[in-house]
Amino acid sequence: MDFYEIVRTRRSVRAYQPSVIPEEVLERVLDAARIAPSGSNRQPTRLILIRDEERKRRVAELCHGQTFIATAPVVIAACGRDIQYNRGEWMGRCSVIVDVAIAVDHLTLAARAEGLGTCWIGSFDGPALKQFLGLPEDVEVVALTPLGYPQGDPFRPPEGRIPREEFVMEEKWG
Ligand SMILES: Cc1cc2nc3c(=O)[nH]c(=O)nc-3n(C[C@H](O)[C@H](O)[C@H](O)COP(=O)(O)O)c2cc1C
Repeated sequence: MDFYEIVRTRRSVRAYQPSVIPEEVLERVLDAARIAPSGSNRQPTRLILIRDEERKRRVAELCHGQTFIATAPVVIAACGRDIQYNRGEWMGRCSVIVDVAIAVDHLTLAARAEGLGTCWIGSFDGPALKQFLGLPEDVEVVALTPLGYPQGDPFRPPEGRIPREEFVMEEKWG
């Protein structure tokens, strides 16, 4: 599939088929995230796969009751190590969040290429999820996504995006 077609038709998917994802497909998607760039190649991202039905339901509860999350066969928690103590210049501790975000974006696009749906989840109870997933002190959840084959065909061009004139500026702001 053409790269721009993948980017253009990736949508947030909020209804999933329960069908299992073949392991080789899952591995390709995970690998797209693994090889993502990171600041100084520090690679702070770690992914936790949650497949147990009861645990998926609990994760969905901790995402402020977004129950659709648990309908996917796999829920992925994308974690970043050392957010609080990360050294850096202007970006400082945000750089780890950027690193994890790049990996998750690779993952969502690879998933689209495989016909799989994802939905970036940024609304969750961080401390409770951290405890539930058994994260070490210096690791935080940055994002989650369900992963699975969508119900229906959600893949279509985006709606509600700002126009190019508003998005791109020349030389300086304004
Ligand atoms: C940082 C971030 C956090 C988000 N959190 C949630 C969320 O908690 N629940 C949800 O259903 N969608 C969430 N979304 C999905 C957005 O609502 C969605 O990306 C946006 O409306 C554009 O739609 P599209 O992904 O289909 O292009 C989040 C997206 C981003 C990038």
